[in-house]
Amino acid sequence: MADGIIIAPSILAADFSRLAEEVSAVDRAGADWVHLDVMDGHFVPNLTFGPPVIKALRHVTGKTFDSHLMVSNPDALLDAYADAGSEIITVHAEACLHLDRTLSRIRELGCRAGVSLNPHTPADFVSHVLDRLDLILVMTVNPGFGGQAFIPAMLEKIATLKAITAGRDIIIEVDGGITLETAGDVVAAGATALVAGSAIFKGDGEDGYRVNIDAIRAAAAS
Ligand code: DX5
Ligand code: ZN
Repeated sequence: MADGIIIAPSILAADFSRLAEEVSAVDRAGADWVHLDVMDGHFVPNLTFGPPVIKALRHVTGKTFDSHLMVSNPDALLDAYADAGSEIITVHAEACLHLDRTLSRIRELGCRAGVSLNPHTPADFVSHVLDRLDLILVMTVNPGFGGQAFIPAMLEKIATLKAITAGRDIIIEVDGGITLETAGDVVAAGATALVAGSAIFKGDGEDGYRVNIDAIRAAAAS
């Protein structure tokens, strides 16, 4: 049942003093995508990086760059995230006054358009923008920090989204608290792309990351 499951390591849990090496290591270890957590210190309390860092990492890997914008005003820099080499740009539904327009703009820029839902945001928030969407990112923790515990109530939301998106080419991605214990449940509920930070980067370098990625794939299949 886990055929075609996408594993997207979040570099939030990587060693920021050696980001290029870390991205290269997870690439060689079998990552499908690289998940890039952009935080602005406003939409979420934490701060990370923006387009210049993404652009600097672009030469390190050919893997899909999955940019997750946890920012209050994503419209201001959409062009910059596309120019930096993001293939997927995901904005937060809670941050977009004009979500339909923002998603359309992401596609105009040649990227796949994603929308992320905080834990309290209902699944049907996306009902009227489905034809603008390539991906729905279900936050399975409150965004802002790595290493938090998975919120079990999100399993029902994933299943609801699977039903809402039936027959459409929309990926359901999950983010936060994905471990060997939770990977099987989220896939059973309908997720097909799994972001994992600490569960992958707790390993030591490429070999450790490979062991962790393979274990998450195996757990997703179980
Ligand atoms: C949380 C981020 C996640 C985070 C996941 O705000 O969006 O991508 O890195 O970290 P883990 O896998 O450690 O929960
Ligand atoms: Zn994320």
